[in-house]
Amino acid sequence: MKNLKRTWWKEGVVYQIYPRSFQDTNGNGIGDLKGVTKRLDYIKSLGVDIVWLCPVYDSPNDDNGYDIRDYRSIMGEFGTMDDFDELLHGMKSRGLKLVMDLVANHTSDEHFWFQESRKSRENPYRDYYHWWPAEKGKPPKRWSYFDEAGDAWKYDEQTNAYYLHYFSVKQPDLKWENPIVRKEIHDVLRFWFDKGVDGFRMDVIPFISKDTDYPELPEQYEGNFVPFYSNGPRLHEFLHEMNTAVLGNYDVMSVGEAPGVTIDQALNFVDEDREELNMFFHFDLMSLDRDGDEVFWMRKDPWKLTEFKKVHSDWDAVFAQKGWGSMYLSNHDFPRAISRWGNDSEAHWHNSATMLQTFLLTMRGTPYIYFGDEIGMTNAGFNTIEDYRDINTVNRFKLLQQEGIALKDFIENEKDAARDNARTPMQWDQTPNAGFTQGAPWIKVNDNYQSGVNVAEQERNPDSVLSYFKKMVGLRKSNLGLIYGKYELLLADSEEIYAYTRTYDEENYLVLLNFSATLVNVKINEVRFTKAKLLLSNDIADTMKTDDAFTLKPYQALVYEILDLE
Ligand code: GLC
Repeated sequence: MKNLKRTWWKEGVVYQIYPRSFQDTNGNGIGDLKGVTKRLDYIKSLGVDIVWLCPVYDSPNDDNGYDIRDYRSIMGEFGTMDDFDELLHGMKSRGLKLVMDLVANHTSDEHFWFQESRKSRENPYRDYYHWWPAEKGKPPKRWSYFDEAGDAWKYDEQTNAYYLHYFSVKQPDLKWENPIVRKEIHDVLRFWFDKGVDGFRMDVIPFISKDTDYPELPEQYEGNFVPFYSNGPRLHEFLHEMNTAVLGNYDVMSVGEAPGVTIDQALNFVDEDREELNMFFHFDLMSLDRDGDEVFWMRKDPWKLTEFKKVHSDWDAVFAQKGWGSMYLSNHDFPRAISRWGNDSEAHWHNSATMLQTFLLTMRGTPYIYFGDEIGMTNAGFNTIEDYRDINTVNRFKLLQQEGIALKDFIENEKDAARDNARTPMQWDQTPNAGFTQGAPWIKVNDNYQSGVNVAEQERNPDSVLSYFKKMVGLRKSNLGLIYGKYELLLADSEEIYAYTRTYDEENYLVLLNFSATLVNVKINEVRFTKAKLLLSNDIADTMKTDDAFTLKPYQALVYEILDLE
């Protein structure tokens, strides 16, 4: 561990907040900045160090803030810049760092730049976006995530041209090839850094570079356009420039959201010598339970634990010498971790939630915990389209409706796959709407806040999911080996047990996780020891161990320190 470069963003635990769903304070049913400020003591009590706040900028909310109208002002529904300053101050005074969300692949179509850009072909802002003049015919096919017709080119009558939008029609893509655009974005970053913000999570950052000849999509990307979008010709030049122009001048962290980025490309982003980003989120786990290239459809057969382990072992290996990884099991774009990777039935809820927390917090790479996962919040599983709010679900529903495809299957799929599963309001207590709002919540609250899945009850119970989470965070933070230690997979072929060691100088840890609903006996042959101290178990009652053999209850998690590794 001689070359180890210690930094706060490697050692910190990140807590992700989806502000719309966190805490409402003015009764409009929408979470706000004052709500986050109100809950700062709670956040601090978790033991986390860094808060990642999803977009809070002025936005017409076509995609819940991922469509920014003004990068330098706060969304009216969330409050004011004074509220923001108060929040930032509240965080600083508690020793918490704040990471914002930079959404710069695209803006809202209501952003001033786009309003100007679409006015005329001569407008000074014209070249801020990607335009295709209609007299050249139809532009080469590009797919869009949220477009009702799946088409990323939108015809705009005013100038008889198409503009590019990888996401919804209200999210036109910025043209980073224009140096003035890049300078604008650098200025946005400086504006927030000068206020004291500690970093950015960068939305779909590998998509920013485009071939502005807009060639026909190469054949290999037919059906899966994501790797094409994430491999633009000037991507690394733009990232390096952003780093040298801005990021490198501050003590801040950067983490890219990186769909389409593969293991062999990983170090191009995060090798320190290249001066680009600190970390990124890969998508290999997020696509594990999906139907091949159909990222929004669940695969038919269940995912296997051996596949899950392979994803994590392969990615750990990439960063063993250089760069640094990030660990996440859920976020605002995916279902709840426990419903997806664990078992949210009553019998297994507690152990599943805490077992997954143990996993997240004993791996190498910075852990990102999504709000609500610390109390074991589960999927919403809405039954009717009327309950959904997400443009992704709503527009895909419309598309399928037009094509006459069975909508019943779609709703069944969305119960497991939809982003809204993880966007239901935070469950604070047992009062109406889980203490989230005094008004009508913008999206339904999950009923299970009345049966134990809420902060207030769990704070009172030393054996709760929440209490375990705090202990687990504490354990990680007091043992450097759990942060920096080498990871080695044991029992690679087991479909029930995920077992590994973490080794750091003289410190040795053994982590055993039962990902199944049955009692499992395991014998560890790969490492020899006789003395192991149990540091943490999510199911203390009769933990059974004889020398090198262990019995794990359903979804049990055990963290040992090995005292005499041979
Ligand atoms: C990212 C965000 C997602 C958003 C999309 C478009 O994937 O995480 O919420 O819809 O980018 O900005």
